Amino acid sequence: MIHLKNIVKQYGNTSALKQINLEIRNGELVTLIGPSGCGKSTLLRVINRMIEPTSGEILIHGENALNLDPVKLRRSIGYVIQNAGLFPHLTVEKNVEIVTELLGWDKAKRKQRAQELLHVVGLAPEKFAHRYPKELSGGQQQRVGIARALAADPAILLMDEPFSAVDPITREQLQAELLAIQTQVKKTIVFVTHDIHEAVRLGDKVALMQEGEIVQFDTPDQILKSPKNDFVAQFLGQERELQRLSLHLVGDIIQQGHGFFDLEQVNINQEHTISIKANARNALSKLLSGVPSLLVLDDDEKPIARVSVHDFIRGAL
Ligand SMILES: Nc1ncnc2c1ncn2[C@@H]1O[C@H](COP(=O)(O)OP(=O)(O)OP(=O)(O)O)[C@@H](O)[C@H]1O
Ligand SMILES: [Mg+2]
Repeated sequence: MIHLKNIVKQYGNTSALKQINLEIRNGELVTLIGPSGCGKSTLLRVINRMIEPTSGEILIHGENALNLDPVKLRRSIGYVIQNAGLFPHLTVEKNVEIVTELLGWDKAKRKQRAQELLHVVGLAPEKFAHRYPKELSGGQQQRVGIARALAADPAILLMDEPFSAVDPITREQLQAELLAIQTQVKKTIVFVTHDIHEAVRLGDKVALMQEGEIVQFDTPDQILKSPKNDFVAQFLGQERELQRLSLHLVGDIIQQGHGFFDLEQVNINQEHTISIKANARNALSKLLSGVPSLLVLDDDEKPIARVSVHDFIRGAL
């Protein structure tokens, strides 16, 4: 667990962080979002003491981080930044091995770990291990950055806008991969982003910051459903409801009993269908394209309900 208590960071007259209190549970992925200059990177870097707070307390797994050796602390926490920050003169494999080498792992073990992680991030070692960073695409470099951060198997991973510099398609892929990796490794992750879609897609919780303060700390669903004030609502934007739908499946829409019907009446070949596991936003999108209703199929492809635009408007969620 990461527990920040009354963290203040002052740069002369600028209060980069004002009395931050935040508790992040083990295995939780928290996204930090807010306008430029609101203190996201500062908050992230206070956690591994790349920045020393002016006052306040940082507890990591119950231990006071300010009493730990900062170098050891930094090595025990994975850190990923925009553009990956790889060493240009080192091969991919050597870049991944950096931290484990600093920690004194023997060569065979380091190499084995690097190979394993390149697999995890989707880069076949036989193809990529001996390349240099400039011989990789931006997305591939980010993958190496993630492999490097995971090498020493840290419990905590700090990620500062890691996917901001890649194209939208690669970005979506990297997000999906991060979620897949996270289900395997269950790290405690703090992830800074400017992108609200990314924040709600990745986060178990979202912390929204404004001028050095956390304005709201909630689950993505809750923050989209009940923004605490006008600033939050404005920041989340006009698509708030649609984004919220994208967090749900068709099954969530019908769970309240909407649209259930008598099976006798249905001819599956004459209707547009959608899986109960499909994304609710995609279902609405289909309906808005002019299909009057969708037959919802369960896992065995058996029709169980029918939904129309009204089920979405009715606010089933
Ligand atoms: N070394 C420094 N000296 C003085 N002021 C600083 C320093 N580092 C950051 N600041 C100020 O602290 C505030 C928070 O900066 P920070 O980098 O944490 O913002 P951010 O939310 O990460 O912004 P961005 O989204 O643009 O990356 C800003 O007002 C910034 O100008
Ligand atoms: Mg920043």
